[in-house]
Amino acid sequence: MEDILIKLENITFSYNSFPVLKNINFEVRVGDKVGLVGPNGAGKTTLLYIITGFLRPQKGKIIILGKERKKEKDFIEVRQKIGLLFQDSDSQLFCPTVKEDIAFGPLNLGKSKEEVLKIVQNISDLFNIHHLLERPIYKLSGGEKKLVALAGIFAMNPICYLLDEPSAGLDEKTKFKLIEFLKNYVKNCVIVSHDKEFLKEIANKTYYLEKDKFYKIL
Ligand SMILES: Nc1ncnc2c1ncn2[C@@H]1O[C@H](COP(=O)(O)OP(=O)(O)OP(=O)(O)O)[C@@H](O)[C@H]1O
Ligand SMILES: [Mg+2]
Repeated sequence: MEDILIKLENITFSYNSFPVLKNINFEVRVGDKVGLVGPNGAGKTTLLYIITGFLRPQKGKIIILGKERKKEKDFIEVRQKIGLLFQDSDSQLFCPTVKEDIAFGPLNLGKSKEEVLKIVQNISDLFNIHHLLERPIYKLSGGEKKLVALAGIFAMNPICYLLDEPSAGLDEKTKFKLIEFLKNYVKNCVIVSHDKEFLKEIANKTYYLEKDKFYKIL
């Protein structure tokens, strides 16, 4: 299998005339757990949206899982195999209940109802969220929403995880469990975070992004 999972070449992106990313080169290889840091408004979330095709760069090349991705059609496969955790959980969760939300991804991938039930049970064990399964999404706390959104990504068993502020809003115990989970069950990921301790536990590479700057720091 191709060793490079994600490759961005000379990516330049502006929101209308507001420049955000300039000539960015970035890659994620098998075994990479990449930390992505930088100040508010640097373009970290924008970069994740470009990888998953929610935004299209004005310049540059996106190669994911060995194929160049240009059109919407190219990104459908990307979103099935590369799991994006949105910075804002409300952008992620849209089913009436927690159980339906976690089941949505694997059902969409064509798994049978029995398989999906098993996945939901396993994920609920791992994340300790059995008590939330029948709850409506809108009645969850911020941290609970984050956990459920994470559970939904893990249920799809993606090749690579893109996690935008995964530890934000989690209590210490839950954060510790997430660290253990990312260490033991996740092989490839990009984690955007302002939480240095969290990144130190997981990342084996770190990139820094700031206006007109993008470089590897560790
Ligand atoms: N839809 C949009 N239209 C115009 N400008 C936008 C839009 N979305 C984001 N921006 C701007 O682009 C810049 C990069 O935003 P982005 O969300 O990628 O930053 P970030 O590095 O993720 O920041 P944070 O750490 O606060 O999450 C910011 O200055 C932001 O205001
Ligand atoms: Mg962001």
